[in-house]
Amino acid sequence: MSHAAGAMPELIQAGMGAYISCSRLANATSRLGALGVVSSVGLRHIVPQQVRSGDQEAIEIAKTFPVARYVEELLSYAPGGKRHNRAIPMDVPDAVKGAFAKRLSASSAYVEVMRAKKGHRGMVGINVMWKCALTVLPSIYGALLAGVDAFLCGAGVPMELPEIIGKMRRGEDLEYDPLTGTGTHVHMQISEDGTADVLQSRPMPKLLPILSNFAFCKRLLETWNKRVEGSRPDAFVLENHAAGGHNAQPRDKVAFGELDQINAYFDKVKELGVPIYVAGAFLHGGTRKDLLYWQERGAYGIQVGSRFALSEESGLRDDLKTRALEAARDGTLRVVTDTRLSPTGFPFKFVPMEGTLGEQSVRDAQKRGCDLGYLLQSRMLTLPDGSEREVYICPAMPEHQYVALGGKLEDTEGRVCLCNALLATAGYSKPDRPALVTLGESAVESSERLTARQVVEDILTPERVAENEARLADPGT
Ligand SMILES: Cc1cc2nc3c(=O)[nH]c(=O)nc-3n(C[C@H](O)[C@H](O)[C@H](O)COP(=O)(O)O)c2cc1C
Repeated sequence: MSHAAGAMPELIQAGMGAYISCSRLANATSRLGALGVVSSVGLRHIVPQQVRSGDQEAIEIAKTFPVARYVEELLSYAPGGKRHNRAIPMDVPDAVKGAFAKRLSASSAYVEVMRAKKGHRGMVGINVMWKCALTVLPSIYGALLAGVDAFLCGAGVPMELPEIIGKMRRGEDLEYDPLTGTGTHVHMQISEDGTADVLQSRPMPKLLPILSNFAFCKRLLETWNKRVEGSRPDAFVLENHAAGGHNAQPRDKVAFGELDQINAYFDKVKELGVPIYVAGAFLHGGTRKDLLYWQERGAYGIQVGSRFALSEESGLRDDLKTRALEAARDGTLRVVTDTRLSPTGFPFKFVPMEGTLGEQSVRDAQKRGCDLGYLLQSRMLTLPDGSEREVYICPAMPEHQYVALGGKLEDTEGRVCLCNALLATAGYSKPDRPALVTLGESAVESSERLTARQVVEDILTPERVAENEARLADPGT
């Protein structure tokens, strides 16, 4: 299960959750020769909402999911369907009751990847956020069924990735207790779906872990090879701490310093012999100069996020995009790193924009609660009779609930519900939920509103893009 990066694009349009890297953006970039990436985060709520609103493309694609039960369940949210007015289910520990949410996550990932692939032959990837442990298996399953070309996994170390893909392609049920680094017990029953033949007919996807130090790269190589002999990443994405979204923990657990800089580990990782994409280390905001600089230093390519987040086709809510670009233009755009905000425990970058959760007063006014559940983790609770029961907890829950379920009070301090905040940022949450804009430090260079094509052309050159577009055109469209 190993591949050379030879056929890989030099540019990755980063997978940014939730729905910032939507299928419209990934479709626009992959047809021009970038690796266009969608994000798995929040799809179980986003795609059924699209179906509910009567989105014909989503509905038509949903009908092509290869297992009838999944189709029926997703389409039950369509106008006239039996769940049209019902809430979207959350993950629950009970295997039988929890299976519906998993199937919905899988069919949603399938629809999103198929949309990104529509009308061209370019490469499309999905970014599977490892810390959203409960949606890892269904997202991979749905994306594999859609024939995804690459998996990119960040916010955690995807130690089980090659094994998961191997098992799914053989149509086997899966169970990890826990998924490494997440503390969460995950499982998915697929053996009765009868999808092994379909999965084996799909191309073997490229595997790109997103990591931020040498030790994890080395350990991942050893672990993969031990678990699935011969498996190796097709490339590492090395993400510097200036990148948007979540960042890896600083080595001293307090603030980023010299040793956290990509320069401190880039050359050592290069010696491991795996091609490297660089992310979040762009002196010029993610431009051709940055690509050429890193290629000169031995990288295979770059993964660019913020510029695409601010481009026309991204899923970032239009009013927030306009305000961020205006702030970048007049030199007032600030990007702050907070180590408490995210329930994942990872540092998180945000823009302190008025009226959003980036403002302390807005955060203070929030009522705690968990009604989407992407960041839930398993906890074993000992009951009065001595028996054990699995429960799910998130440190952004109400404090009393979190403690009653076995969490520590100090873990709750400063946390916000990122699930609601990030869905609101893409326009997919309840109207009263404030947004939270995340961008990388390079965003200060992005003052102009560009189309995805303009960004790709700027990085790869218009001539290369024209060649790519002709080569990747779908003869059937
Ligand atoms: C809005 C936004 C959301 C992001 N969300 C994710 C995510 O869900 N998963 C992930 O692995 N990286 C995420 N990232 C990081 C990007 O994948 C990428 O590595 C980074 O943006 C590159 O640096 P740049 O922003 O300077 O271009 C996000 C970045 C941004 C700007």
